[in-house]
Amino acid sequence: MDDGITIRPLRETDAEAVVALYSKAAAVEPRLGPVTLPQWEQFLKLPQNRGGRDFRVAERNGRLVGLAESSLRDQGAHHSRFLKIVVTPEARRRGIGLALLDHVLAIDADADLLVQTLVSRDWPAGMAFVTIFGFAHIGSEIGMKCVEPLQPARTLAAARATIERAGDVTACAAEVARIHNAAYASDAAFRLYSPEEMAQLLSDSEVWVASEDGQMSGFCLTEPEQNSMWIESVAVDPARQGRGLGQLLVYRVLSAHEVSVEHPCWLNVSSRNAPALKIYRRLGFRPQYETCRFGATRGELIASRDSRFH
Ligand SMILES: CC(C)(COP(=O)(O)OP(=O)(O)OC[C@H]1O[C@@H](n2cnc3c(N)ncnc32)[C@H](O)[C@@H]1OP(=O)(O)O)[C@@H](O)C(=O)NCCC(=O)NCCS
Repeated sequence: MDDGITIRPLRETDAEAVVALYSKAAAVEPRLGPVTLPQWEQFLKLPQNRGGRDFRVAERNGRLVGLAESSLRDQGAHHSRFLKIVVTPEARRRGIGLALLDHVLAIDADADLLVQTLVSRDWPAGMAFVTIFGFAHIGSEIGMKCVEPLQPARTLAAARATIERAGDVTACAAEVARIHNAAYASDAAFRLYSPEEMAQLLSDSEVWVASEDGQMSGFCLTEPEQNSMWIESVAVDPARQGRGLGQLLVYRVLSAHEVSVEHPCWLNVSSRNAPALKIYRRLGFRPQYETCRFGATRGELIASRDSRFH
């Protein structure tokens, strides 16, 4: 590695340099950024990021030239470490990405810990980097867009359900956490949420709730943006799935936001989640891009790294 490089934990005072790093990287890799200062601060506040405790930065001559975002997720039966490395374009191919990876791998001790990272198909350097270090492609996140919502067929269950925007998001956090933990349990990106962590997450979201007989059956979290909106999460209680509720819930949200060509709705869905893909297609969502999910155990990464670089 370049001799003048130091790897150290992230500090609060790095925020502006991180924003600058993302804006440079975004000029090379579409959709990697840009990230605004408020967005970065919000991201660090997410419960899984713990204020950036496991994040690392690379510094040269007092200037921030690389960043590794990293968080350990409690997935119920096991844990996974999530990772994203960004190196400023002018400092690439000098071993900075590798050094950041090494420092993140040094945080844990368990050789069987699964390490995951998302890389867009449009980022050739990232694809080359993860392939060289022994990551395997374990699925993809499909970015989908809707400009004209299509009304779903009415089902009996859907007709009986009440769908409305939650006024008090803190009051419904425990039920949202319960449904999230049950519905996403087998998803690669799954993270177990306590009611308190969910309340924190919901404080910045718009929450829509489907209920039957006064009991929550499903929820949809949305994030409005200036000229578009995102659906962050949709989940129906597994005991109440397959009855048309999820489709109706999303359709109501799209209608309430007056989704159109000028005001599209975006969401990400796993390529391995066939039922969700089908529902979104039926509602008028079309795939726009693919982000590959790579995974390997910590032990595999250390072995493949040692056999290639010493
Ligand atoms: C991917 C990224 C982090 C690599 O950072 P970096 O500091 O250039 O990486 P390194 O110098 O440590 O590269 C280590 C090895 O990865 C491979 N590699 C990295 N970039 C590559 C490229 N553009 N083409 C081919 N191989 C590449 C090479 O084998 C390289 O070793 P070498 O230079 O001795 O041949 C950087 O390109 C980046 O920020 N990309 C955008 C974000 C991204 O895609 N992140 C996903 C990774 S989690």
